[in-house]
Amino acid sequence: MRRTTWTLLLSLFLAASLAGDALADPPPKPVPFPKGYRQWTHVTSMVIYGDKHPLFGAFGGIHHVYANDKALKTLKAKKPQYPDGASFAFDLLESPESGGAYGEGKRKFVAVITHDGKKYAETEGWGWQAFEGGDPTKPVVKDLTAQKACATCHKEVAAKGFVFAEWHD
Ligand code: HEC
Repeated sequence: MRRTTWTLLLSLFLAASLAGDALADPPPKPVPFPKGYRQWTHVTSMVIYGDKHPLFGAFGGIHHVYANDKALKTLKAKKPQYPDGASFAFDLLESPESGGAYGEGKRKFVAVITHDGKKYAETEGWGWQAFEGGDPTKPVVKDLTAQKACATCHKEVAAKGFVFAEWHD
């Protein structure tokens, strides 16, 4: 093949890959792992044990919701305006049944939302991420579109600051 043909093919390839990049999802906004979340305040727990529940596929198991101090204050006050630095963790474990009881099994993931009105302006002021097996090196939300999908479902509770959890004394 002549040199000019190669050059032409190369430039077509480059153009195609650049266009591909432009079309690809932007990377997710980084969200730190909720270090020490097991020492935060426990808010609520739920067992999703069967496909009668629409989220059984994604969220089947037992989960516990934790709030850090900044989040807890706003949650208790039932206000929708969370301050920057407020965070919630959603800790999901398998829930094997044995002898008429649902226990705790392997950790499936730890999801986190953390508030920063400016940094996370595109996703309702919250940063969204989940860590496979609770491992800080294994974030599962790989692009901004997926973060927006988290926020979209939580929009159902926009009036409560995008937080489903409610405080019970
Ligand atoms: C299809 C709807 C749906 C999607 C999608 C969804 N969530 Fe949730 N999320 C819920 C519901 C419902 C609860 C409340 C669970 C409870 O009360 O025990 C919740 C609770 C939470 C909580 C605890 C704080 C709160 O709002 O109660 C966190 C943290 C959380 N989700 C993070 C995420 C992240 C991160 C994603 C995306 C990877 C995500 N969620 C996607 C429905 C959803």
